[in-house]
Amino acid sequence: MDDLYRDYILEHYRHPHNFGIIEAPDARYEGANPLCGDRITMMLGIRDGVVAEVAFTGRGCAISQASASLLTDEIKGKSVDEVAKLTAADVLDLLGIEISPARLKCALLSLDTVSHALEERGNLAAGASADAGAGTAMDAATTAGA
Ligand code: FES
Repeated sequence: MDDLYRDYILEHYRHPHNFGIIEAPDARYEGANPLCGDRITMMLGIRDGVVAEVAFTGRGCAISQASASLLTDEIKGKSVDEVAKLTAADVLDLLGIEISPARLKCALLSLDTVSHALEERGNLAAGASADAGAGTAMDAATTAGA
């Protein structure tokens, strides 16, 4: 792995952007990588169809947490439609390093979680569920890993 890129990833891992809680998010989902148990909770504040606020909590490997940090920067200010169209390739571009097949789930956990959050929001809007997800604060600590 290129040192420059690795530093960039480690910087996002150690000092993640948008790490924290939104008290009353419009969309929220807790995603997990079943292979390792690492978790990310994404919270979105949506105004007029735009992601006005975004925050995440979680813990896991450097790739999963850096990817969440980069992705939250990327989606802030974008329309919900634009965010819904983001692909795995977009997230890998943000990471900017080669991701081995074994680490793909780490890299894509954040995107998967955002997608689920938006889906759940759709369900909520349709009245399918009354549970808007009372914000349970995830363990804010990150673990050393990867
Ligand atoms: Fe668990 Fe990467 S998400 S090892």
